[in-house]
Amino acid sequence: MKIIAGNWKMNGTREKLKDMITALQNVDTENKMILCVPYTMLSIESGKASLGAQDVSTHDHGAYTGEVSAQMIAEAGAKYVIVGHSERRQYHNETNDIVRQKAEAALSAGLTPIVCVGETMDEKQAGKTMEIIESGVRESIPNDIDKAVIVAYEPRWAIGAGLTPTTEEIAEAHKLIADTLTSMGLAGTPVLYGASVKGSNASEIMSIPNVDGVLVGGASLKPDDFIPIITSVK
Ligand code: PGA
Repeated sequence: MKIIAGNWKMNGTREKLKDMITALQNVDTENKMILCVPYTMLSIESGKASLGAQDVSTHDHGAYTGEVSAQMIAEAGAKYVIVGHSERRQYHNETNDIVRQKAEAALSAGLTPIVCVGETMDEKQAGKTMEIIESGVRESIPNDIDKAVIVAYEPRWAIGAGLTPTTEEIAEAHKLIADTLTSMGLAGTPVLYGASVKGSNASEIMSIPNVDGVLVGGASLKPDDFIPIITSVK
């Protein structure tokens, strides 16, 4: 069983999500299907899939205009929330410290955070990939938790770029993440790979050791692109 999560970013409509959910009803799979969609779509009945948000406030409630709390996301019907996505880190200056607070907020409302980590092109070229990944995992995941989290390794330079790391690079990153999680008492935490996943590379990526699923951006928007990813693995 793999976890296939879509990240719709700021795309789609409620109607398009309903069409996707209808299409997913006919997919014969044991894989776990998650769609992380804009807040305005979270109350839609999600059928065989589960819904997630793409960000969450660090605060419970109060004078934080424009923010949405974990409790509100859970009340709308979502089960998951992405925290620390590359675009949040890039455009909203989210640090590992902020991401950890968001993950804590999610867990306290009963949501499962999908915690994203990954290196930029500058960090990769400076030979810092492993260091960034390890500190991302250690600093973005709350300490002493007994609830489920999901980690997503997303090399930031590869997102939306049609680029993917080599199989060896993905294997090395996922091994490091699995070992780091084990040392944190979180052995068995699922680790997804994300960045330029599509139907033609999904099964190869998910056959790499320690890759427990994928987080898919562009190719999660249309059933014709998303379903082949879901059915590419058992
Ligand atoms: P992509 O995005 O699949 O379009 O590269 C992945 C992501 O941002 O989660």
